[in-house]
Amino acid sequence: MRITMIGTGYVGLVSGVCFSEFGFDVTCVDIDAEKIERLNRMEVPIFEPGLDDLIERNYADKRLTFTTDFDSAVGQADVVFIAVGTPSRRGDGEADLTYVYEAARRLAHAMKPGTVVVIKSTVVVGTCRKVAEIIAAERPGLDFSIASNPEFLREGSAIEDFMRPDRVVVGVVDTRGEEALRRLYRPLFLRETPIVVTTLENAELIKYASNAFLAMKITFINEVADLCEKVGGDVQKVASAIGLDKRIGSKFLHAGPGYGGSCFPKDTTALAATARKYDTALRLVETTIEVNDARKRAMAERVLNALGADPAGKTVGILGIAFKPNTDDVRDAPSLVIVPALQAAGVRVRAHDPEAQEQAAPLLPGVEWCDAPYDVANGADVLAVLTEWNVYRGLSPRALAERMRGRTVVDMRNIWPAEEIAEAGLTHVGI
Ligand code: UGA
Repeated sequence: MRITMIGTGYVGLVSGVCFSEFGFDVTCVDIDAEKIERLNRMEVPIFEPGLDDLIERNYADKRLTFTTDFDSAVGQADVVFIAVGTPSRRGDGEADLTYVYEAARRLAHAMKPGTVVVIKSTVVVGTCRKVAEIIAAERPGLDFSIASNPEFLREGSAIEDFMRPDRVVVGVVDTRGEEALRRLYRPLFLRETPIVVTTLENAELIKYASNAFLAMKITFINEVADLCEKVGGDVQKVASAIGLDKRIGSKFLHAGPGYGGSCFPKDTTALAATARKYDTALRLVETTIEVNDARKRAMAERVLNALGADPAGKTVGILGIAFKPNTDDVRDAPSLVIVPALQAAGVRVRAHDPEAQEQAAPLLPGVEWCDAPYDVANGADVLAVLTEWNVYRGLSPRALAERMRGRTVVDMRNIWPAEEIAEAGLTHVGI
């Protein structure tokens, strides 16, 4: 079976590469010629552990190709995936489906009869059916099948998530779509991965509801953390103990500076907007969005408080800019709120991130970027950890203390035990 993946963003690239690893012939197509050229030179546009190796191997074995030739890529495919971006639309927060619809119009003219068209982009309920209508209107009488196959990959562990998912969700309208997707994911079913076969609408809703629920779960524990701090509790103990109840589960209960990334902020906003459009209120989701936004601002306040009465002219060293470790993605990262808030108060910001500095530099003007984590501490009045990269866990608190001017460490990810920081003569302000 030949697969064509439209869009070599994070989702399209990872999924395409993983399907080629399953042994299928995969063509990845993108309108961005420079990106395709780079991929053909084996330069991977995103930082994702394990992705380079898979690309090199499958490319060398000729199962994986990259092209800008949309028509021939689509024309030879048995299954075409649409994996283009769906950014938040300015103003109303609804997902912008322009790229999805544009891809649908183009592929209608290029595909061969009998093709299965699968939407992998995260799209609001009703979109898959609309894509089918667009194709039918562009080429009346063409025989094709439409399906939805949302992804649940996390940046930073996307390969592992693709290869060992908790479940595969497919929305279909006929047995042809179902059979094609069952074949594509067969290697996973040998490992007894559950597959949920359902309607297009349910598949679309499952994706958004999953992300909204996880965003709520994180936000819940963040609020519990605030209460813990007020009453002298320890949120890490509370979270790990409530997580032992299987109905709650231990994952996504790490308190921190608020969730970021390209998915939770965008998808919660889009789901809330969809609900409003249908005259329903998803009040828990709306509140989650508000609480999370406020939390990022509150974290900046926490750092300013640690600087004392007159923060202007003081220096803060920041460890971690990416929205989470193992990615170079800074979209909607807490750092994008916290750093400008500090600068607005006249604070000098020095920062380090193992992978995200290049992406972040244009978004965070005025930051002094450091090549090594220890350099961030030089002359810092306060040191703040925003992202829990493993390299930071191993830093010596003593070596940091020697370089700092001030004595406070604001550890927003609880990466260091408070006692170890105290032994180095520093004050640990955790969550
Ligand atoms: C998320 C979902 O986890 C994936 O299942 C989904 O496929 C993806 O969105 C998507 O829709 O494409 P991702 O945004 O890559 O994945 O990253 P997560 O690991 O979910 O982290 C999101 C944010 O939540 C990060 O800022 C992270 O630091 C924060 N987080 C996560 C916490 O603050 N605490 C936690 O316990 C977990």
